[in-house]
Amino acid sequence: MNTDDQLEPNVFVIFGGAGDLTWRKLMPALFDLSRSQSIPEHFSILAVDRVELSVDQLHKRLHEGVNQFSRSGKIAGKEWSEFAKHIRYLQGDFKGKTTYSDLSDQCAKLDKDWNAKAQRIFYMATPPSLFGEIPRFLEQAGLASDRERARIVVEKPIGYDLDSALALNRTLASGFEESQIFRIDHYLGKETVQNILAFRFANPLFEPIWNRRYVDYVTITVAEEVGVEHRGGYYDGAGALRDMVQNHLLQLLCLVAMEPMVSFDAGEIRNKKVDVLHAVRPISHEAVHRSVVRGQYGKGWSGGKELCGYREEDGVPPDSQTETYAALRLYVDNWRWQDVPFYLRTGKRLARQVSEVAIQFRAAPHQSFPTEATLDWQPSRIVMSIQPDEGIVLRFQAKHPGPKMLLRPVDMRFNYRESFGTPSPEAYETLLWDVINNDATLFMRADQVEAAWRLLMPVIEVWKASPPSDFPNYAGGTWGPDATQGLLAHQGHSWPLPVELGGAAR
Ligand code: BG6
Repeated sequence: MNTDDQLEPNVFVIFGGAGDLTWRKLMPALFDLSRSQSIPEHFSILAVDRVELSVDQLHKRLHEGVNQFSRSGKIAGKEWSEFAKHIRYLQGDFKGKTTYSDLSDQCAKLDKDWNAKAQRIFYMATPPSLFGEIPRFLEQAGLASDRERARIVVEKPIGYDLDSALALNRTLASGFEESQIFRIDHYLGKETVQNILAFRFANPLFEPIWNRRYVDYVTITVAEEVGVEHRGGYYDGAGALRDMVQNHLLQLLCLVAMEPMVSFDAGEIRNKKVDVLHAVRPISHEAVHRSVVRGQYGKGWSGGKELCGYREEDGVPPDSQTETYAALRLYVDNWRWQDVPFYLRTGKRLARQVSEVAIQFRAAPHQSFPTEATLDWQPSRIVMSIQPDEGIVLRFQAKHPGPKMLLRPVDMRFNYRESFGTPSPEAYETLLWDVINNDATLFMRADQVEAAWRLLMPVIEVWKASPPSDFPNYAGGTWGPDATQGLLAHQGHSWPLPVELGGAAR
């Protein structure tokens, strides 16, 4: 990212400007963007929140957050003060009309000072219960009406189920055009996630084999080592399916399975992605117990330390039925993928942190080597590693040195950091830069969100109707419930061991 003289003046309004997301993610990202001269010359951040706070107190708190979470590390006071000049505070009730008239006045004043009509970005970094309210107030205050310059950014969760997502999308649509709405899924801002498109469609080498003829199955893993930490209150009402599968994992599935786009146009890419969701074979209510596994972590061990179970976490009821692990087997019913299983899994308190997509290829159609040569045979595999290692590993067979013909699997590795020698921007940096530049490619459109919920509704309904009787069913620090192996085993498949790229930041 670098200077773009064409960037229009911009007012970046953050509802929840004194909150956790602003502190941890948004301000560090905005600071890093300013460091790489990727924000407009006329730029103002208006933090709106209910708490009583002087602007100095807010600056101090945000400075701490930037020191802790920005990829620039600790920021000297002078540099911070220069940046902090952009940040103002507006104390007000999110449901109070005066907040919006004050906001409108402040925006008008900035336009006057800059002698320009600035873009206005309204970022909802608030609890989801306000997602339906704030847009209505913005609309009533006339702050949504400039279709070219006013934009609204919504954080996940976009709804709690299909009905609430439809209702939220309707509310947003009553004040804003779809082109003004940016629904964030921070996974799409990760470099290695975007690299899936580059790898598939900028290299004619792989696309010809990216289909049912050559691919045996695909696994998508987003495993976290951490538990719910301080978010028990939110998480217990969500669970792994809503918190991770509905968004991050299904977005990864779309990128892996989509057809080539004709151009790098936001609408075109989003159409291709939503086509995948429409092609996913619906999971019938009867099939839920065969196709989906849920789990909850109990006590466990990690690095010699005892870990508490989910039910002992702060904000979690001692008899909670919420799943902290979910695994699914899906099929994409189209010419390219018919009958190729896509296995998705995610969970908290697993053995290690790893996000990766593994494409497992079929065996060679004819085995011409003697049986003794292939005792250690393993299928060819491409692993796209998203985090903590960032890169791609291609596994194939090679001849073991020596007089005998012996085949062994070997790995060819591409490591992002080593190849490019520069650290990747944080996902939020990329996404905020895109919002400022009005590029919606990496954001979720209403129909994508709805299609993802539609797909998961039978699971949500069946799980609600038949609460688990075996929770907790996996120990913290392991790879999840035993049943998760069964999802793959009857087809002779297995979850791959995570790859190690080495050299990357851990
Ligand atoms: C968030 C979820 O969307 O993604 C969290 O709400 C989860 O529960 C987080 O921990 C994982 O993101 P990342 O970037 O740390 O893999």
